[in-house]
Amino acid sequence: MMQESIAALTAEITTAELNNPAELDAFRISYLGRKGRLADLFDQLKTVPAEDKRAVGQQLNALKQQAQARFDEAQQAAEATADNAPANPDFDYTLPPVPNALGTRHPLSLVREEMLRIFGRIGFAVAEGPEIEDDWHNFTALNFPENHPARDMQDTFFVESRTGGMVDSADDNSQTHQSTNPQPHLLRTHTSTVQVRVMETEPLPIRRVMPGRVFRNEAISARAHMMFHQVEGIFIDEGVSFADLKQTVYYFVQELFGADINIRFRPSFFPFTEPSAEIDITCLICKGAGCNICKYSGWVEIGGCGMVDPAVLENAKIDPEKYSGYAWGMGIERIAMLKYQIKDLRLFTENDMRFLRQFEAL
Ligand code: DAH
Repeated sequence: MMQESIAALTAEITTAELNNPAELDAFRISYLGRKGRLADLFDQLKTVPAEDKRAVGQQLNALKQQAQARFDEAQQAAEATADNAPANPDFDYTLPPVPNALGTRHPLSLVREEMLRIFGRIGFAVAEGPEIEDDWHNFTALNFPENHPARDMQDTFFVESRTGGMVDSADDNSQTHQSTNPQPHLLRTHTSTVQVRVMETEPLPIRRVMPGRVFRNEAISARAHMMFHQVEGIFIDEGVSFADLKQTVYYFVQELFGADINIRFRPSFFPFTEPSAEIDITCLICKGAGCNICKYSGWVEIGGCGMVDPAVLENAKIDPEKYSGYAWGMGIERIAMLKYQIKDLRLFTENDMRFLRQFEAL
């Protein structure tokens, strides 16, 4: 009688379904619980004849251990699947995965960062300034005469206040340089504005690179845009010469494009530098042989530079008798076009994925 009960229970315990929490619970209550079937059999042990008690007791103990082991194992398995289970039980595991949409770096970011790294290695730290500027920082402090054509509405985007007039710059330290007339505000036409700001505010010597976005009132075409980027640089100390400027430019160009690139300084004019030069390098498209990008000259211009005009130093309250310095401004788009052989400026702002995906992945 007792033997049959044990055999039946053993069969039940080994075959019971233990696939979900409800089945686990039922198993625990009916076999392992204090009022369960095993406990029942243990109670009946007292009815077993004395000579069989020992053997039957061992069988019951073995069965109890077996039941507990099955339960523990099934419970662990259930917990493991619960950890991985989706919140939604109707989730379709056969769906293909959504691919990760990894972006790429914009070519202008890549070139800007490379330029800043190269100058950083020779001690030029980064400074930035506002895109909406006042007349003082964009023109007057940089020695542009009152009637200079760059100040013309045709070339410069002026900013109007909400009441219709030109924005006044009440919060600006440049007021001290100006008459009490409100000065016009504008979208900066070059990053030379930031030169003035660092000269006005920073202790000497000054060694800075200044990346940023600039704006000019131009019709958009393959070769011109109303918005582009420059990296400006300035070094002011005692005894700085044009030879220092040339060496810095040589170093930069050769780091960026390689040692076999030629550089030439072409005399030029900027109101804020004297003497001034334009920086030309070997055309990278035709390697100097002549092509339509370099207008068959073999050279392309990458920026302007010069010795900071003493009048500009004075405007920033720096003594031109004691200090001198050089400055430059280079176009980031121009350098990116040469580096990646891009022939249309508009590609930089159109966000065409076929163009953007060609650059370094994030
Ligand atoms: N600001 C000039 C431009 O936008 C570039 C430039 C020329 C910057 C000479 C300079 C410089 O610092 O010295 O065309």
